[in-house]
Amino acid sequence: MTSWNPTSWQDKKTAQQPNYVDSDALQRAVSQLTTLPPLVSSWEIETLKSQLADAASGKRFLLQAGDCAERFADCTPERITGQLKVLLQMSLVLVHTTKRRVIRVGRLAGQYAKPRSSDLETIDGIALPSYRGDLVNDIEFSELARTPNPNRLLRGFERSAMTINFVRALIDGGFADLHHPEYWDLGFVEHSPRAAEYQSIVASIAESLRFMETLAGEAVGAINRVEFFTSHEGLHLHYEQAQTRQVPHRDGWYNLSSHFPWIGARTTELDGGHIEFFKGIANPIGVKIGAHAIEIEKLLDALHPNNEPGRLTLIHRYGAEKVAGELPKLIEAVQATGKQVLFICDPMHGNTKKTESGFKTRNFDSILSEVEQSIDIHKRLGSTLGGVHVEVCGQNVTECTGGARGLDEHCLGDAYETLVDPRLNYEQSIELAMLVGKKLG
Ligand code: PEP
Ligand code: CO
Repeated sequence: MTSWNPTSWQDKKTAQQPNYVDSDALQRAVSQLTTLPPLVSSWEIETLKSQLADAASGKRFLLQAGDCAERFADCTPERITGQLKVLLQMSLVLVHTTKRRVIRVGRLAGQYAKPRSSDLETIDGIALPSYRGDLVNDIEFSELARTPNPNRLLRGFERSAMTINFVRALIDGGFADLHHPEYWDLGFVEHSPRAAEYQSIVASIAESLRFMETLAGEAVGAINRVEFFTSHEGLHLHYEQAQTRQVPHRDGWYNLSSHFPWIGARTTELDGGHIEFFKGIANPIGVKIGAHAIEIEKLLDALHPNNEPGRLTLIHRYGAEKVAGELPKLIEAVQATGKQVLFICDPMHGNTKKTESGFKTRNFDSILSEVEQSIDIHKRLGSTLGGVHVEVCGQNVTECTGGARGLDEHCLGDAYETLVDPRLNYEQSIELAMLVGKKLG
């Protein structure tokens, strides 16, 4: 470990990195990134780590949510406000239904790089590099747009800074209306067979907020200052490396591009570059665990050698059909190491389907079912599901089917915007929070 440094990963085989034609231009971009001030601080990172340790022991609950892929074009006040609103409202629903404190972590301010199953995409006989997220290239299908451009690393970092700056301003300003269900967009409730149940959840949140306001004599927004953290997939290792630093008065190296980076399901090779990079950073980290074989004991040896509380979150994403068969094996493998991790469920990435008309979608009931099954399986094995990881959008997009309005496949074309994976829309997100909260409460 003493020889680790932020570039050590470069000696390993590293999956999912773009091929830059001009390596000098890449080096110039990385050098510039290395000199820019960080987006987060080591003390925020340590605060989050200690809260994640609480979630691992069931005292808090982690809500990690946001876009599958942020787009540069979405760095606007409307979009950022929309994401923050759905996240804070989901968290408020979870606080009131689970009676646990909720840790809010956005998939934002850096969720710009995407893994792809193929290096090339072929349309009408023309093969071009696949779109790897706005940090790397542009979705437009032309040679110029698809050629990885290192300047995008800087553009992405700047947008991440603008995003986090605006989020901090909104949070500091109280963003008070978000605490009042009277101002929420709850029209969907009446469309659900569960309308009465949902109305009673909303009424009880409103009631307890009014009670707290009366006690405090001021707006809950002001007394209940919320904390908010950022996360993204730590995929593009030149980007991650550039913001990884030593800080005064602390040991170790901190990746200051985000509080909570995670390793995606496609980059978990034990001898690969991603594990090497994540080994050396002091941040709390996540690892996506899907249905492919992973040697859990070795993974924990590499990433969680000291069993440090809050350090490691395993984000399981098996899909509603496989979770009952796979999750018990994961939990038992972790229990056999004697180490503590935080388990959370990503009910999105194992439940993706393609419709006949070619839309990638996910069904609300499968998403809910995977979370509900996970809660039961953890309980049965003496473990805890300490959070959820979901792809959501603050707008009423039509990307996932189901939910109170019974959105069906034929409606997917109405407002399908995502460049990569389908997200729960505003209404589906709030509904999911209500049902997950109820199951946990
Ligand atoms: C994602 O979170 O958008 C993603 C690509 O997930 P996974 O690595 O689990 O496939
Ligand atoms: Co995704």
